[in-house]
Amino acid sequence: MSYENILIKKKEGLATVTINRPKKLNALNKATIEELHTAFETLEDDANIKVIVVTGSGEKAFVAGADISEFANFSPEEGARLARKGQEMLFDYVENLSTPVIAAVNGFALGGGLELAMACHFRIASDNAKMGLPEVSLGVIPGYGGTQRLPQLVGKGRAMELIMTASMIGASDAKDYGLVNHVTSQEELLGLAEKLASKIMKNSSVAIGAAIRAINDNYRDGVNGYDTEIAEFGDSFGTEDFKEGTTAFLEKRKPNFPGA
Ligand code: COA
Repeated sequence: MSYENILIKKKEGLATVTINRPKKLNALNKATIEELHTAFETLEDDANIKVIVVTGSGEKAFVAGADISEFANFSPEEGARLARKGQEMLFDYVENLSTPVIAAVNGFALGGGLELAMACHFRIASDNAKMGLPEVSLGVIPGYGGTQRLPQLVGKGRAMELIMTASMIGASDAKDYGLVNHVTSQEELLGLAEKLASKIMKNSSVAIGAAIRAINDNYRDGVNGYDTEIAEFGDSFGTEDFKEGTTAFLEKRKPNFPGA
């Protein structure tokens, strides 16, 4: 599959997906959202890929938002359809992947860009990164999950303030807020992502997928995450990875997980 708006690089179990519209600060147009969906679907099905990193091309932006030029003339119905389709195809989709997805925020992450970073399983940022949900400055609200995931990550009061003021915060504040886990220089950002990925890859990919499902169920309406945890915990006992992990521990050697 060849892509026009994204680049994919694979190296030893790590796939790096780079959103590549630097002249438009990597704004998410319809085509890019569709390509990202296909890319994530393909990478999730690839047993050799254990971690996915998402970043933006160029030095300026991760993603500067949804592509404003595409929806400026939309009706209320078209607006609702845009949000629903985007959430299903990309934002909810990424959040629910079994393969861990790290956002490497390398510059502006605004609107849909921050929403994409928040849909990833966790985030790291370069020290020049700027994050915000400026939608109310355009007369609209975040539509790709921002009103839900921002309060989950930073708390209701901070989310209210960030959204109402449409302001941007820098990487250091984002780290204080718990929005990103680590901050580094732009040059070292992908190296840090690789380091974190290689730590993740040493563990059971099957157990990691189960942990992602259990954690996500904490935030799902009408679902009891503790019940999910019990079920996933139980299921782990039937996996080859569990046999290998416990056997390796008892034999005082490093595990070599089959990923099954
Ligand atoms: N949608 C469409 N195009 C966008 C975009 C977006 N969200 N963000 C940036 N671009 C385009 C600009 O229109 C410009 O294109 P042009 O060169 O053809 O005119 C190009 O990317 C560069 O952006 P520019 O505004 O010139 O860069 P800047 O350094 O002056 O400002 C930002 C950077 C991020 C502050 C500014 O681009 C911005 O405010 N973008 C919109 C952010 C936003 O509101 N996002 C939420 C959308 S719901």
